[in-house]
Amino acid sequence: MTAHDFPSAHVADAAGMDMILVGDSLAMVALGMEDTSEVLVDEMLLHCRSVARATKGAFTVGDLPMGSYEISPEQGLTTAIRFIKEGRIQGIKLEGGKEMASTIKKITQAGIPVLAHVGLTPQRQNALGGFRVQGKTSKGAMSVLEDAIAVQEAGSFGVVLEAVPAEVATIITRKLSIPTIGIGAGNGCSGQVLVQVDMSGNFPPGRFIPKFVKQYGNVWAESFRAIESYRDEVKGRQYPAPEHTYPIPKDELDAFAK
Ligand code: KIV
Ligand code: NA
Repeated sequence: MTAHDFPSAHVADAAGMDMILVGDSLAMVALGMEDTSEVLVDEMLLHCRSVARATKGAFTVGDLPMGSYEISPEQGLTTAIRFIKEGRIQGIKLEGGKEMASTIKKITQAGIPVLAHVGLTPQRQNALGGFRVQGKTSKGAMSVLEDAIAVQEAGSFGVVLEAVPAEVATIITRKLSIPTIGIGAGNGCSGQVLVQVDMSGNFPPGRFIPKFVKQYGNVWAESFRAIESYRDEVKGRQYPAPEHTYPIPKDELDAFAK
């Protein structure tokens, strides 16, 4: 499950999530940015720290944002170390397959667990032609498999498979020895991840939601209802009621009010 702040991490941890990801999707769902390419390392680190403070049981992973690891394995390791030391999380995630193998190797050799991410990699949406299902042809599926094997060999402890046909994800999962974490990749993966605000329905009506998301709640509607009731009760002078106020002894009040 993803989380982006103290309360969202607290509830995910309390509900028994094995792993909590501070995904760079927070750029869009928590910071209102157009896409994930805008979020900065320092911004990710602030969110990682708040998630880490709330998380007692789950393993915490933070997303390296676009631009903070692609230049060289050294750049990747430098950023990963900041996530551990300043972000206070336990592992990092980065996007990419074969081309990221040397970076994954460098980071894992420093003792930092890496979760890889192949298939649809949103940080590269401009090169992929948007948010598109990957591995829809035999050639495309083979390329996702090769990426998954490359990141496994480079030392990642798991790999996110995003937006690939279920059958392809199932075969890739069978061929790997590390767990696959699916999102839009069917139920043949070892585990699943979803963006918390999507699955809990914490967004206004009418927002686009990908086909693979199942909405398990309607947090937005519940918050809306609560805030509307508050507004109505304040305007109607029903709130605050006597039980929400502090008492003062009668003699003190008399002395004050006269
Ligand atoms: O940023 C994110 O939330 C993610 C997950 C959806 C895998 O990368
Ligand atoms: Na992400």
